[in-house]
Amino acid sequence: MSQDASPPAAGAATKNAMWSGRFSESTSALVERFSESVSFDQRLWKQDIAGSQAHARMLGKVGVLAAADVEAIITGLDGIAADIAAGRFAWSQALEDVHMNIEARLTERIGEAGKRLHTGRSRNDQVATDVRLYVRDAIDELVGLIDALAAGLLDLAEREADSVMPGFTHLQVAQPVTFGHHMLAWREQVLRDKARLLDARKRANILPLGSAALAGTVYPLDRHYVAEQLGFAGITENSLDAVSDRDFAIETVAACSLVMVHLSRWSEELILWSTPMFGFIALPDRYCTGSSIMPQKKNPDVPELVRGKTGRVVGDLNALLVLMKGQPLAYNRDNQEDKEPLFDALDTARDCLALYADMAPNIVVKRDNCRAAAAKGFSTATDLADYLVKKGLPFRDAHHVVGNSVGYAAKQGRDLPELSLPELQQFSPLIAEDVYAHISLDASVAARTTYGGTAPAQVRAAIARARAKT
Ligand code: ARG
Repeated sequence: MSQDASPPAAGAATKNAMWSGRFSESTSALVERFSESVSFDQRLWKQDIAGSQAHARMLGKVGVLAAADVEAIITGLDGIAADIAAGRFAWSQALEDVHMNIEARLTERIGEAGKRLHTGRSRNDQVATDVRLYVRDAIDELVGLIDALAAGLLDLAEREADSVMPGFTHLQVAQPVTFGHHMLAWREQVLRDKARLLDARKRANILPLGSAALAGTVYPLDRHYVAEQLGFAGITENSLDAVSDRDFAIETVAACSLVMVHLSRWSEELILWSTPMFGFIALPDRYCTGSSIMPQKKNPDVPELVRGKTGRVVGDLNALLVLMKGQPLAYNRDNQEDKEPLFDALDTARDCLALYADMAPNIVVKRDNCRAAAAKGFSTATDLADYLVKKGLPFRDAHHVVGNSVGYAAKQGRDLPELSLPELQQFSPLIAEDVYAHISLDASVAARTTYGGTAPAQVRAAIARARAKT
């Protein structure tokens, strides 16, 4: 429905010339406004025109349409495309949706031939085709943005491969990690999102046109030829399924939801890290706003909004799932309600990815603050335990010794590397002067050399592997 807040008038609207043959009265104005989709599906115009042109060419090829009619249809639709692109097209609510608006205009422009375009086709397979084409293009755009974002994170990871920060579990300081390693973790999340989107694309990229209303059609359509023209990888197997299936849209919005969940998790970290209490990073000013009352404020609005918009995309997914769950085969008008949540999810994920792709490589890392935070909270306690294990103590005993040392240091308000050798030796005679080389922050991260670990050498190796792949 249109966004106009006023209640619709109850009087009669105009008769729809496309399907009103068997009707004795016009649709009420309320029903017209309630059932229109052109206010939001007009964005499918490019896909609709491409689909119609492919259908017309195919009808010509199989001898259903005369060559002159095909020619008139193609040229007429090109003219309409130019009008729409130039903002010269008058969309009519009385014509319900994008499909009937364009077809009606075509007939106005070219006459009889325009009326032949819909031969062997229904809006049911037409809209299913348009939405699949749209989703395909939208996925390609999202994937491009994810590539840009992942590349930015790789650069940032390289710059910060040696920067030490606290790693957290339970949001408590756990062990030191490198900032670069943390950025590579984010990158893994969006690379999986990309794989999910590309996987959804495979199922979206199948042509439903030729299924007609639900049962197929009497005309000798060459569906493969239509698929070929539109770049579809194949054609649907079952006409009943093809006109009613919106799984591809649901999967795509599910993938967008995970994109958003990931960006929302990052947002949470960016917001925390940019508070003075953490002070790990500064976000570029262009991504922040001030307060109208507190002159000192620099608020991380973009991450906050990204985190907030995650709710709407997850809501879009929910809307689509619930939209589908009660539908019997085949097409039901319910499916018109797929568009707003689908478009909203795609638009929102696109904008958030574009913003983060631009922002991520420009995050300023306050290395000294990160390091100072890692030096608090006994982040190298595990290293002391590992040191004792190397000296022969069983890990459980080492754990206990370190627990005692931490308890002692905490009472003093000092960290482990700040304790003197005799102080440390109270807890185990195995501790010697070489202990300090094991429990410094740099020693701690450098020692974590397992594949995928936080050691700067491992981070650099991971970056090299990533660069070799792209
Ligand atoms: N606007 C409709 C939709 O979005 C097009 C298909 C309408 N088909 C029908 N039989 N009324 O789904």
